Amino acid sequence: MKRTKIVDIFDPQLIGQQVSVKGWVRSRRGNKHVQFVALNDGSTIKNIQIVFDMAKFTDEQLKPITTGASLHVIGQLVESMGKGQTAEIQAETLEIYGTADPETYPMQKKGHTMEFLREKAHLRPRTNTFGAVFRIRHHMAIAIHKFFHDHGFFYFHTPIITASDCEGAGQMFQVTTKNLYDLKKDENGSIIYDDDFFGKQASLTVSGQLEGELAATALGSIYTFGPTFRAENSNTPRHLAEFWMIEPEVAFADLSDLMDLEEEFIKYCINWALENCKDDLEFLNNMIDKGLIERLKEVVSTEFVRLPYTEGIKILEEAVAGGKKFEFPVYWGCDLASEHERYLVEEHFKKPVIMTDYPKDIKAFYMKMNEDGKTVQGTDVLFPQIGEIIGGSVREEDYDKLMTRIEEMNIPMKDMWWYLDTRRFGTVPHAGFGLGFERLLLFVTGMTNIRDVIPFPRTPNNAEF
Ligand code: 4AD
Ligand code: MG
Repeated sequence: MKRTKIVDIFDPQLIGQQVSVKGWVRSRRGNKHVQFVALNDGSTIKNIQIVFDMAKFTDEQLKPITTGASLHVIGQLVESMGKGQTAEIQAETLEIYGTADPETYPMQKKGHTMEFLREKAHLRPRTNTFGAVFRIRHHMAIAIHKFFHDHGFFYFHTPIITASDCEGAGQMFQVTTKNLYDLKKDENGSIIYDDDFFGKQASLTVSGQLEGELAATALGSIYTFGPTFRAENSNTPRHLAEFWMIEPEVAFADLSDLMDLEEEFIKYCINWALENCKDDLEFLNNMIDKGLIERLKEVVSTEFVRLPYTEGIKILEEAVAGGKKFEFPVYWGCDLASEHERYLVEEHFKKPVIMTDYPKDIKAFYMKMNEDGKTVQGTDVLFPQIGEIIGGSVREEDYDKLMTRIEEMNIPMKDMWWYLDTRRFGTVPHAGFGLGFERLLLFVTGMTNIRDVIPFPRTPNNAEF
């Protein structure tokens, strides 16, 4: 008999029919006449209640039914008298696939801390919270592809192993097959890579942007969506060493086109969650963050503030003059800390802010210089609870200006010739951005630590599972 997924079982047409369900036990309760088992198969946050009439089953048969055990039940689907559920199954046959010893199975009913569950990352998808988060993660990935596909963007695959440092911040993980116990060095003590696998120093990419620009200047509009890596030693609730990034790149786009795209895209994704992840969002709203759904609805219906950095600094300086205390100093030229970003978004404007025109010295080499010679056309999208969710820019399309920045910033040139060719042959104005997928998920799920929106987080001192 064909299995029915629990997500499909609450269809009123199925009432009265015999169904077959398979899943993991969430709980069991009852008395000597009747036993109730809540079964979940991961297809939805909802459990189906299985009713065992103890005139038909023995205690011995039901004994292995403890939290975490896996079952196959066939029975009749009937309307339920119980509160909060529409249907339940009157069990006729029971098959136990696997038991879960209550003494040692760590995912008991309730009350585990997020820290505890992180140590059990191999089993936490079986909890309600992580089931909800990972279903939403899937739906967000679908939303992203749908948005770009419908807007005529091509999904372009950029390499994971690379020899260039897009952000120029030197936060790369090396990829090598060299014997680390016996490294060949030149007279200055520098490692010789000639005999390494790629014949040069190679790393895991921090961003697909540079190759994305090659594609945009050929296919027009592209996006990447893949893993990226940063060896930054930041132990914060918003940083991962391995995270997923979405990077659209658009030929012929200017700053205003870029901001329009950022805003439309992010609203589309949040709307998608509101429409396609209702049950999971309601669960998270009840259990994790009572303001979640309200906040999501607010963001999709509000117009984002567009704010030049220089004006942002003025607002922050006024706040400081008015008695507001920040941990880090505010001055023109400073790189905004998350406390500054959150002040602007959560307290001053009370809506998302797209900040633009940053001082050139705190941004990457590829950003287009403004006429003032001091600021560049970079944009960060700042969100409530999160801070920076998107980083993007108009790209410097002028070969000479780009070269000047590369030299001023000491960007290693020898591996960049192919990138510079875009400016040498048929260069065009273009722009793009990077959205941190896990930052988006933090916002959409209301979870507060980025380690809890990716199945197996990679952070300093942690590569378990
Ligand atoms: O601002 P970033 O560093 O920008 C770039 O990498 C550009 N090349 C993107 C582009 O224009 N195509 O990173 C972009 C976004 C950030 O806004 C943030 O959401 C996320 O990536 N991000 C991280 N997410 C999790 N952990 C980290 N360590 C992250 N670093 C950046
Ligand atoms: Mg950034």
